[in-house]
Amino acid sequence: MADASHLPDPDLVAYAEPGARAALEELGVTTWREALDWLYRHAFVRPIAGTPYPEARRRYFGPSGRPGTAPRRPTPWSEILRAFRERIAPATYNAQHTGSFSYFTPPPLPTSIAGEVLAQWLQQGVDVWHAGPVGAFVEEEVIAWLRELVGMPDGSWGVLTSGGVMANVMALALARDVRLRELRGLDAAPRAAALEGVRVYASDQAHFSVERGLAVLGFPPETLRVVASDERFRLPSEAVARAIEADRAAGHIPLAIAAVAGSTNTGSVDPVPELAEIAAREGLWLHVDAAYGGAARLSARLADRVPGLELADSVTLDPHKWFFQAYDIGGLLVRRREDLLQTFSRTPEYYASNRPEDEPLDWYRYSIEGTRRLRALKLWTSWTHLGTEGLGALVERTVELAEALAARLRAAPDLELTPDPPDLGVVCFRHLPVRDLGPEALDAHQVALQRALELDGSAWVSLTTLRGRTWLRAGVMNHLSSERDLDRLLDAIRRLARSSADGT
Ligand SMILES: Cc1ncc(COP(=O)(O)O)c(C=O)c1O
Repeated sequence: MADASHLPDPDLVAYAEPGARAALEELGVTTWREALDWLYRHAFVRPIAGTPYPEARRRYFGPSGRPGTAPRRPTPWSEILRAFRERIAPATYNAQHTGSFSYFTPPPLPTSIAGEVLAQWLQQGVDVWHAGPVGAFVEEEVIAWLRELVGMPDGSWGVLTSGGVMANVMALALARDVRLRELRGLDAAPRAAALEGVRVYASDQAHFSVERGLAVLGFPPETLRVVASDERFRLPSEAVARAIEADRAAGHIPLAIAAVAGSTNTGSVDPVPELAEIAAREGLWLHVDAAYGGAARLSARLADRVPGLELADSVTLDPHKWFFQAYDIGGLLVRRREDLLQTFSRTPEYYASNRPEDEPLDWYRYSIEGTRRLRALKLWTSWTHLGTEGLGALVERTVELAEALAARLRAAPDLELTPDPPDLGVVCFRHLPVRDLGPEALDAHQVALQRALELDGSAWVSLTTLRGRTWLRAGVMNHLSSERDLDRLLDAIRRLARSSADGT
């Protein structure tokens, strides 16, 4: 080992040296303690600092508001923790705060964070089997649990991804390379002109990654056939059937339906069983983006709210959403294992197996990605710790809170809820001031309230646009929240509305 004695913390570099263990233990203790200081001094105090963007940049980067040069000289670890404490800890978004009603960002379970720490130490490259032999099995095991959860049949498979976007893009790659190839009767995966004239059906509530995925995969823009969602923001199956018929009559090739079970805007769940019937009848690929809603399957009581996932050709799940996992971990499940191999498997010479009779599980053959860290371990630790019942109880808890929030909104003449009732745990609402405002002024009122709430710091909700109008969006995802937090949110909204010009 190169001489590290001139470095500030030599044992943290030359850690194979005898005696280095104590320094590593100290590193663990000080770092974990620093994280807890952040949790109790910042995360549980405010949902977000609320600093305006230019000011937030200056606070982080200094007066220039821009990154400086890379550190040339070493810095002791204690100094680095101090810089973390000063520059980073006060400026976070805090999913743990009980008034955080945000995007799909539940607080991670401590046993998931601990699993992630273990995974990082193990440094298993879950890619070619030899680079992460036991890691390959942990991922296989977690994928089997997810397949069981969704009700995927024997012969199904899956792979962990960085998140829902990657899973959706990979699913569309399967639709292209497996189903479109079959539909066109090609010997090889369709490319270039073979991607023209194809149609994929999704609602106006589909996640942006469906459109991005089709673009990245080389499909022309008209491939995505956006079908207007119904009054509950769901994809109406009759409209999909009609669109398919019209497209066939016009000479196009209907390829896939991309449904969503738990939409980003409102948490709405498309009628997957009906869409599955259409897909089966018409020979279309059915992908269900259950990035958020899939977790409802953890609860026996809520499972029916996301029906039909088991009928899909591919399903996106995103455990770093409602499975309370540390970032990042997403996943794609597929009905037929060979579809992943057909689409992604390659045989680079440097991964040649010297014992082909072993047929090791080489995960790189199932994914766009190569080396992936042992993402499965944090799900493995935290799922094992709580069991499906325990995880499901956390999901139920948040749905109960969402229902309690919806009930308060329904009963309040000065607040409006949509859709009513929400399908899962996303609650969209707006404040209606006493004075009747026109649509634009009412939109501006919601924007002003959201900003005022952010500065106030008692709670946090995001904004979204539904049918062209602005709504407040509460993602009720935090199992640490209580009904008191719901009251605090609504009290703050009313208080801030009263103190704004429009609210009087
Ligand atoms: C329905 C849905 N699908 C996919 C995604 C993308 O997931 P990720 O950001 O983890 O890639 C999201 C993110 O919010 C989502 O809401």
